[in-house]
Amino acid sequence: MTWLITGGAGYIGAHVVRAMAEAGERTVVYDDLSTGLAERVPDGVPLVAGSTLDGDRLARALAEHSVTGVVHLAAKKQVGESVDHPLEYYRENVEGLRVLLEAVTAAEVPSFVFSSSAAVYGMPDVDLVREETPCVPLSPYGETKLAGEWLVRATGRATGLSTASLRYFNVAGAAAPELADVGVSNLIPMVFEKLTENLAPRIFGDDYPTPDGTCVRDYIHVVDLAEAHVTVARALQSSAGHDLTLNIGRGEGVSVREMIDHIYAVTGYHRPPTVTPRRPGDPARVVASADRIAVELGWEAKHDVEDMITSAWAGWVRTHPEAART
Ligand code: UFG
Repeated sequence: MTWLITGGAGYIGAHVVRAMAEAGERTVVYDDLSTGLAERVPDGVPLVAGSTLDGDRLARALAEHSVTGVVHLAAKKQVGESVDHPLEYYRENVEGLRVLLEAVTAAEVPSFVFSSSAAVYGMPDVDLVREETPCVPLSPYGETKLAGEWLVRATGRATGLSTASLRYFNVAGAAAPELADVGVSNLIPMVFEKLTENLAPRIFGDDYPTPDGTCVRDYIHVVDLAEAHVTVARALQSSAGHDLTLNIGRGEGVSVREMIDHIYAVTGYHRPPTVTPRRPGDPARVVASADRIAVELGWEAKHDVEDMITSAWAGWVRTHPEAART
């Protein structure tokens, strides 16, 4: 098997490439390097620089590397940005996927793993979100992921392509400091940034209907998430006709306040947080039921929130050496 990993030079993609390589799978990275970094691609893994909107380049990459499976992670992923630039999100995330699926079916590649998101659920009014929970995305980003799942499933049904859509919950941590997320658009790096600047971390609202009033999320270590891709890829390759939709989370809710307390413990900083008004569109609680993937494929997460914060902090200190405390 050779797996083409689109977005393989990105934060999650690079972890998937590494996990695949450790599991003995051959990979090729396909990435337009708009946010991906070539240095994240390990030695010995070919890197094809290209856009998923470029059908000819995709067709050549699939043929030249005798690709037998695709893991599609290349996408835009910022919720707020998607509200301001919906057409860009639909072009990259939906049209890019359509072009890729066209190339994949023309090349008769048998397996396809799609990177989806818990954003497809929107504001779920349930304790644990199951895969059958209705999908009512709240942002263009979430819409493009749900539309993507539809495209993938419809193509599978029409052509026999074996497919899986993986709904990631809140991804954090790193396998190594140099693979850490360099963006500052999620809770953990945003708190790191404030603490490093000797400012108070912010809590976006503490009047939610949750035990401590702050939002509850299901944080998943990127190493576990990458392992889930290996498990799913192997399931697809072992028998045809799959049509999987799977949550990738830990099934455990952690509040913003609890996360900040964990961050204090790991980093040694203790500046108390400031509570600001709610951030528009934030659901109070989004926690996965992780049962389906456990029952169907025997996968479950191994790393806890402490591991995520410790490894993310090592990555942060690498790029912000002034943040280190002895
Ligand atoms: N938060 C703060 N202070 C901060 C940063 C974040 O209180 O400085 C809070 C947010 O309000 C939210 C929680 O921390 O309640 C987590 O926020 P993130 O931005 O880290 O993550 P989200 O849950 O908002 O978003 C994540 C992914 C998206 C995905 C979404 C839905 O980053 O890609 O889940 O699944 F779309």
